[in-house]
Formats: sequence, C-alpha cells, structure tokens
Amino acid sequence: MDAFAKAIVGYYRERGRKALPWQHPRTPYRVWVSEIMLQQTQVERVIDYFNRFVSNFPDVSRLAAAELDEVLAHWSGLGYYARARNLHASARLMLERHNGELPDDLESLLSLPGIGKSTAGAILSSAFGIPAPILDGNVRRVLARFHEVKGATGDSATEKELWRLAEIHTPRDGIREYTQGIMDFGARLCRKSRPACPECPLADDCRALASRSVSMLPVPRRRRARPLRRVRFFLVTDHQGRVLLESRPSGGIWSGLWTLPERDLAEDKREFIGQFDTNSGHGPSVEELPPPSVFRHHFTHFELEVHPVRLVINRFSDAGSEVRRWVTKEECEGLGIPSATKRLLAHL
Ligand code: ADE
Repeated sequence: MDAFAKAIVGYYRERGRKALPWQHPRTPYRVWVSEIMLQQTQVERVIDYFNRFVSNFPDVSRLAAAELDEVLAHWSGLGYYARARNLHASARLMLERHNGELPDDLESLLSLPGIGKSTAGAILSSAFGIPAPILDGNVRRVLARFHEVKGATGDSATEKELWRLAEIHTPRDGIREYTQGIMDFGARLCRKSRPACPECPLADDCRALASRSVSMLPVPRRRRARPLRRVRFFLVTDHQGRVLLESRPSGGIWSGLWTLPERDLAEDKREFIGQFDTNSGHGPSVEELPPPSVFRHHFTHFELEVHPVRLVINRFSDAGSEVRRWVTKEECEGLGIPSATKRLLAHL
C-alpha cells in the first residue's frame, strides 16, 4: 500500500462513515442499489430512499418481479429516472444470466445497464472486497488536487490520467476501507469549497496545496450553454378534487412517469382549456384561478421554465385513458411523479 492509500485508510479508520445502511448488512444487492442511488446524489438524500427501496424490493428476484411503475414510484423525487429503469432492467438480466445474483467480475458488471467503470469498481471493492479503482466526483477532486491535474474534467486526456492515478493508488489489501475512505475523504475533508487543508493527512505531499491551486482544481467540465425551454403546466382539478395527470411518452424526459399536462408556452393556453369547455349554457364549466409562481427546473442538457396554470373543472371530468388519469392525492403516492410536478401538487 503506498503512502497515499495508507493516509486514506487511516482517515477512514478515524473518521470514515461506518454506519451507512448499505454497510449493515453489506450484501452485494444492497451495495449495488446504493451505488446507483448515489450516482449524482448525496448520501444524506439517499438514505431514506434506500431504506424504503430495499424494504419494498429486498432482493434481485423481487425487484425483477415488480412492475416498472412500482419501481418508479419508489424513485419519485430522487431524479435521474433512467437509474430506476436501469436498476429494474438489470435485475431481470441478473435473473437470466447470473441466477439472480450480482456478478463479481468487471466485464459482467459493465454489461449491465447503468453500471459504468466507477460504479463497477465501487461494487467490486465494497461488495466483494476485490481491488478495483473508482473515479466518482469526490475521488476525481482528491486526485486532481493531490497530483495537480490541470486538464478540464471530462476531457479524454484528463480522464485517462485520472484513471491511471486512481489505479496506481488502489491497494491490494484493505480495499473496502480504502474505497469508502477516499469517498468520505473527498466529501468531508477535501471538499469542493472550503477544504480542510490544515487538518489534511496528505497536506505535505499535495501538489495543489504547494502551488496554491487547491480552489481552482479540478478544472470544471467545458459546458455548452444550456438551452431554455418554456412550458405551461396545467394544474387541473375536477369537482371531486382529483387532479389530472398524463403519462409521459417513452424516450423523452420523465419517460414512464406521471406529470401534470405540459404544453409549450408558445401555444395559446385556450387550446388546452377548450377541451373542458362544455358550452352547456349553464355558466362556465372551467374556471381559471391564480396560479403558483413560475419556476425553473434544471436538467443536465437544458433548463425548463415552468409557467403553472390553475384550473378547476366544475361540471364533469372524462373517464381518463391509458395516458391520462384523474387521481386523488392518495393515489399519487403509488405513482412515479417527478419533483417538478410534486411541488405543484403540494399547492392543492
Ligand atoms: N458515493 C458513492 N458511493 C458512496 C459511498 N459508498 N459512500 C459515500 N459516498 C458515495
């Protein structure tokens, strides 16, 4: 074990996270679920979702047997829903290919949807104790600073160099402590802002600290400006207080989830409202109320500006269909609903 790895393991023993729910018991299934949830999401946010998820789907076969809708419902609000779809698809593949077990080799893990090289490394090392490097956001930051890697994150030369460094430090023994340790070290000590350099066990050999470039590293990804999409979300309730939801088409954002009806802001809102106007001669059948405020929701590749419209239907509501449902608040609990819709439902 090199001096870097020794310091990381020392840090883990003293201050690492040892009471995470997926560490007790630490089964391959639980480690896998946690690693998928932890992609793009912080530990604190994941813990409750994780506990609920594994109590509903305690093993690979129960996850594989579930309907996708049910899995998405348990992911509601966590974001990046492709992760839930991939988890479900992977469980089915594990039944077919590996007797319902997590495979313990890199190639088989990488062939499952949602598992890239870093997640595979985390599963091999945490679940099976097999030495394998990881390179998530925290590890990337630690290595870029310690070795003063100056290339932009995501550029292929930078990624190649960081993977090389991740590999040379990965120890043959004590891999579980090392892997958890370097993630915790990155999250808690070598933080993105205000890193705790004065108490860092690696400070003497940190090249970024020596050149005073800690706060500049790692160099952020080159990003294209995110395009802005403006839409209306129609928050419609019927005379029984049920709310109208639409099922999202597959392939697009929120595919397979249920959201408020969304229409382009450029489209005249009367086109949507008109469907409720029965023109029965008994006064208006649809009433527009003051809406909740406009808000923005950030996606990786674009930004969504949501303009809510609040409608109350006081005569009829249609029977719904495969892609359109009138649901009560209680029924919402069982559906996969992304947080942009949830925050508007909270106004009811
Ligand atoms: N990020 C990904 N996996 C993690 C873990 N096991 N602990 C802390 N952060 C993580």
